[in-house]
Amino acid sequence: MASRYRSHLISLRDGREVTLRAIVEADATKIVQAFERLSAESRYYRFMRYKKQLDGRALERGVHPRPGREFAFVATVPAAEGTDIVGAGQYVRAGDGNEKTCEFSITVAEDWRGGGLATRLLASLVRRARRDGYETMEGWVLAQNTPMLAVARKLHFKSEPVSGDAAVLRVQRAL
Ligand SMILES: CC(C)(COP(=O)(O)OP(=O)(O)OC[C@H]1O[C@@H](n2cnc3c(N)ncnc32)[C@H](O)[C@@H]1OP(=O)(O)O)[C@@H](O)C(=O)NCCC(=O)NCCS
Repeated sequence: MASRYRSHLISLRDGREVTLRAIVEADATKIVQAFERLSAESRYYRFMRYKKQLDGRALERGVHPRPGREFAFVATVPAAEGTDIVGAGQYVRAGDGNEKTCEFSITVAEDWRGGGLATRLLASLVRRARRDGYETMEGWVLAQNTPMLAVARKLHFKSEPVSGDAAVLRVQRAL
């Protein structure tokens, strides 16, 4: 169950601390705020298209991961109005119908990059997906997305071209 994941504090390379915990329904508003703070380029890298706003159904699904099948972490920091979400990572069952493969996605707020947060998020997703019984994790990454490819490589993902689309790589690893 998502709620059973114990939240904990992690230190980034620059000494700043963030809390890593499972997503909850009440995060929806903060997720929207975090999305609105992202640059157009970051949104493009994450969604592979220019996205002006998060669609309601995806948001609803994102804050209600199905236990044992989907999981989402958020990284939060204290802010004037409670907390801000500065990073998020999730996996869902892969779109190809293979129930042993899950697909991850990760976003880190621009001001919080370069400190190892995405690496921590992806490592946590790998451990969690293994517990959920997945055997393979995959992700779809723009070929020019050097930081994401660096994170994936560090965590032993291999990348391969996607047929018919030179702009996108599939990264994958056994769990
Ligand atoms: C990709 C993303 C999640 C990385 O977040 P992050 O917290 O900065 O990542 P980390 O700090 O854990 O690691 C980034 C790595 O990329 C490396 N890197 C960054 N820019 C680089 C560049 N131009 N060339 C080579 N390496 C680069 C960093 O050195 C770091 O590796 P290191 O820890 O070995 O030094 C973040 O940039 C992001 O949210 N981008 C927009 C959304 C997106 O692209 N999501 C991925 C789609 S699934």
